[in-house]
Amino acid sequence: MTITDLEFIQSFIRMANDGFALGWHERNGGNLSYRMTSEDVVVAKPFFKDHHPSVPIGIAIPNLAGEYFLVTGSGKFFRNISIAPEDNICIIEIDGKGENYRIVWGLKNGGTPTSELPSHLLNHGVKKESSHGGLRVIYHAHPTNIIAMTFLLPLDDRTFSRILWTMATECPVVFPDGVGIVPWMVPGGREIGIATAELMEKYNVAIWAHHGMFCAGIDFDTTFGLMHTVEKSAEIYFKVISAGKVRQTITDQNLRDLAKAFHVNLREEFLD
Ligand code: 13P
Ligand code: ZN
Repeated sequence: MTITDLEFIQSFIRMANDGFALGWHERNGGNLSYRMTSEDVVVAKPFFKDHHPSVPIGIAIPNLAGEYFLVTGSGKFFRNISIAPEDNICIIEIDGKGENYRIVWGLKNGGTPTSELPSHLLNHGVKKESSHGGLRVIYHAHPTNIIAMTFLLPLDDRTFSRILWTMATECPVVFPDGVGIVPWMVPGGREIGIATAELMEKYNVAIWAHHGMFCAGIDFDTTFGLMHTVEKSAEIYFKVISAGKVRQTITDQNLRDLAKAFHVNLREEFLD
């Protein structure tokens, strides 16, 4: 038995492979983080090593104090994660103030956690609070169609949410809150992290203009499924607009009927 046989690490690896297979992780594109449960920590701890220095996160996230995260490494390729997990991913421990992290396992040939760590941790901070601890996965990918949409449409939450909801019947049920849009910003830092976390107060999906998408979910399946559903909706959008004149679509009444049938609350301000 090695640490990489543990179920949460196997699930993390499977998700990385699936994202790569769908073309969302060119080169080192994208990153993934999972907030470990106390049970995960108990079974993983015997494999931890204690020689890494403490590193500032760059921002304080007090409600993550003492938490452990499994995260992808910066500059690491998703396609290599399953082949050599201990080289490409790591477990970090957050200190008692939520201001510093320390690698306790992984990245065995050197490296640092993803450059998007501030965004991941700020999103985890928001979601831990709003989900009463239930939400554990934050996922960033570079799906082609959703990125392409950000060149064509006005960068506002309502426009994107309405179009994405109406491209397939199940979409409003999968992301009833809609999606938030972050205008183009320099990636990899505190500012884009703060802008994304503000949107995560309202949504489980934040789209970074001309860059990619962040999704939040309770577990690996839900989070991956959310990314997949939004990206598929964007793909249908391109097939439709490039194929000809739209004759009919899902109406606002249809959206309201769906919400009622599936017992979800669609964001009212996005409906006509
Ligand atoms: P990292 O390799 O640092 O995770 O960066 C990839 C990326 O997608 C940046 O937005
Ligand atoms: Zn990216």
